[in-house]
Amino acid sequence: MERTLIIIKPDAVQRGLTGEILRRFEARGLRIIGMKLIQVSRELAEKHYDIHRERPFFGSLVSYITSSPVVVIALEGTNAIEAARGTIGATNPTKAAAGTIRGDFALEIGRNLVHGSDSVENGQIEVANFFDESELVSWQRNTDPWIFE
Ligand code: RTP
Ligand code: MG
Repeated sequence: MERTLIIIKPDAVQRGLTGEILRRFEARGLRIIGMKLIQVSRELAEKHYDIHRERPFFGSLVSYITSSPVVVIALEGTNAIEAARGTIGATNPTKAAAGTIRGDFALEIGRNLVHGSDSVENGQIEVANFFDESELVSWQRNTDPWIFE
């Protein structure tokens, strides 16, 4: 079963969109296996965005994600990576389709509300970076057979 790390970013938490964003992933059918409100440290932010270290926006990206609390969620499901990124929408909210989180609630790339892992491998790595194994719950929902074929 694929895993993805979702981060409800500082702008979304500040704007009171946490519930709305979580609702969309739940409604999609993805199973929550971990969830918490945290203040991301500079060290963790730099590790998470290491791939962007040489990009001109790296500094503002780290400032943004550490600027205020975030809600981190570990989700599990068949095709969880692609499904979650579809629900999130394109990186630039102006280009994100209506009906996606970014397309419905955001305007600018540096205030795009939510993160989702971009590959199966990164899903596993990012969940492990943000959660101790003891914080993750292995469980079945009674609805799983109605969602997972
Ligand atoms: P995320 O990692 O946050 O889920 O977003 P993503 O995969 O759609 O986009 P990614 O390429 O991984 O970029 C990570 C975050 O960096 C900011 N960004 N700014 N100014 C720019 O050109 C630019 N490009 C990316 C965005 O906040 C993006 O979410
Ligand atoms: Mg990304």
